[in-house]
Amino acid sequence: MKMLQFKMRAHLFLLLCLLFNCLCRFHCTTADDVQGYLSKKIKSKAMAPDIAPSADPPPFIPLIAPSPLIPFTDRSLPSLSGFCSLNFSAVASLMSKTATDCWDSSAPYLANVICCPQFDASLAILMGQFSKISGMLYLDKTNARNCLSDFQMILESQGANNQLQNLCSIRSENLTEASCPVSDVKKFESIVDTSRLLAACGKVDTVKECCHQVCQSAILDSARKIARNGTSDLPENSTRIDDCKNIVFRWLTSKLNPSSANDVLRGLSNCNVNKGCPLSFPSTINVTKECGYMISNQTGCCKAMENYLSHLQKQSFITNLQALNCAALLGMELQKANVSNNVYDLCHISLKDFSLQVGSKESGCLLPSLPSDVTYDEASGIGFICDLNDNIEATWPSTSILPGSCNETTKLPALPTATSAQSGLYKKKSVLFPLLFSSSLVLTPLI
Ligand SMILES: *[C@@H]1O[C@H](CO)[C@@H](O)[C@H](O)[C@H]1NC(C)=O
Ligand SMILES: *[C@@H]1O[C@H](CO)[C@@H](O)[C@H](O)[C@H]1NC(C)=O
Ligand SMILES: *[C@@H]1O[C@H](CO)[C@@H](O)[C@H](O)[C@H]1NC(C)=O
Ligand SMILES: *[C@@H]1O[C@H](CO)[C@@H](O)[C@H](O)[C@H]1NC(C)=O
Ligand SMILES: *[C@@H]1O[C@H](CO)[C@@H](O)[C@H](O)[C@H]1NC(C)=O
Ligand SMILES: *[C@@H]1O[C@H](CO)[C@@H](O)[C@H](O)[C@H]1NC(C)=O
Ligand SMILES: *[C@@H]1O[C@H](CO)[C@@H](O)[C@H](O)[C@H]1NC(C)=O
Repeated sequence: MKMLQFKMRAHLFLLLCLLFNCLCRFHCTTADDVQGYLSKKIKSKAMAPDIAPSADPPPFIPLIAPSPLIPFTDRSLPSLSGFCSLNFSAVASLMSKTATDCWDSSAPYLANVICCPQFDASLAILMGQFSKISGMLYLDKTNARNCLSDFQMILESQGANNQLQNLCSIRSENLTEASCPVSDVKKFESIVDTSRLLAACGKVDTVKECCHQVCQSAILDSARKIARNGTSDLPENSTRIDDCKNIVFRWLTSKLNPSSANDVLRGLSNCNVNKGCPLSFPSTINVTKECGYMISNQTGCCKAMENYLSHLQKQSFITNLQALNCAALLGMELQKANVSNNVYDLCHISLKDFSLQVGSKESGCLLPSLPSDVTYDEASGIGFICDLNDNIEATWPSTSILPGSCNETTKLPALPTATSAQSGLYKKKSVLFPLLFSSSLVLTPLI
């Protein structure tokens, strides 16, 4: 028994080392950096009441606790602008969730699926809370600048990446009304059918919403209405409608408690996330040279394919549905370049080969389509759930249509969809994946 345990740990440790090396190549985090971040967190925990003055300070950093081996050192606190009207302590636990989801060295690899959706949701909720007092669903330019910078500072003080504005492509203009002509609560409520909006979006079914679009269509309708400023004779303008969607999100969150609002926004963003493929494809020329038209040398072709995939595997953790989309996109691109053989079959390419790798070829790590948040605990450090065991073959596209997230996926029962992830079936095959090293590191199979 002991031996088995030891073996398991050694194996997992190897896995982690491989991942760490891989992360390190692109974003070099030295052991010193890790210690620095931890002590930063420790320090800011002690000082949290200064950030959020109140009689009973909210648990600003409940997830982050000192690890026994990390020495305490002094780090400075974030000094805030003093010119931001948002009440950060009203959403302290969401900020802390955001900081963990956007944890320093994992943020670039989780930006698309976990970190930025949570970052956006917290900001919208902060604005919604602000509107309850101010009656405004936007910040003026000065406030927007100061608030975004304060928001980033607080997150950083809790261990978040310091490039979140770039990673999540957000600028202070995103906190203003931008080009939406309706941005105060009174006018909003005079134009929009608010009871219909609330009925559709007060709660979203994270599994059904992506197909049935109950809430999404109510949001789009509302955004269109206010984009036309109550009249109907303005032409559709997609920039303005997008800006108005942000206003709708803010209003919506002001009517829900922060935690339900967060569930709604994350549910909606999952639908968008799973629709696409966030990877960028380099030129396929090396592959088409080896695999094009008549494959003369299978070994050469598969080598070229493997080499090509290794470029994708450095980019990002993706969900299983995203991997399905990525496989279809790459397949179509190859077909366009006259690669007519099914090279996925030929070279035994599976969906996991499109994800960031955490070791050997067999340990691609796909996030579930309803990804969990990143977690922190003292024993295992920073972790998230991914799938190391499923080996779903990549599907060579037979038509030039992307697999939709509604009908098509039901034809792939092996795919760990949202439903099976929730039922616990999927969890059996998943692991909580720790990114942070500590002496007591354990990889916990969730059974
Ligand atoms: C900010 O929110 C907290 C928690 O909801 C509340 O206790 C406090 O009064 C608010 N501060 C201001 C200035 O509104
Ligand atoms: C911020 O605004 C820019 C356009 O000004 C837009 O492209 C981008 O998607 C917005 N970001 C978010 C998170 O809404
Ligand atoms: C759409 O609105 C934006 C912002 O108001 C404006 O810059 C752009 O010119 C408009 N486009 C059209 C086609 O009306
Ligand atoms: C919005 O409508 C009001 C009247 O309801 C009008 O005064 C204002 O100019 C309109 N704004 C835009 C940007 O169309
Ligand atoms: C096929 O390609 C591999 C790797 O590129 C090479 O080692 C091998 O000699 C090639 N075989 C033939 C028959 O050309
Ligand atoms: C294509 O092959 C060249 C030469 O072997 C290599 O340097 C390059 O990284 C390859 N590019 C891709 C996208 O595979
Ligand atoms: C694909 O093959 C067709 C017909 O053989 C040819 O006309 C076309 O140029 C080829 N395309 C590429 C990208 O090689």
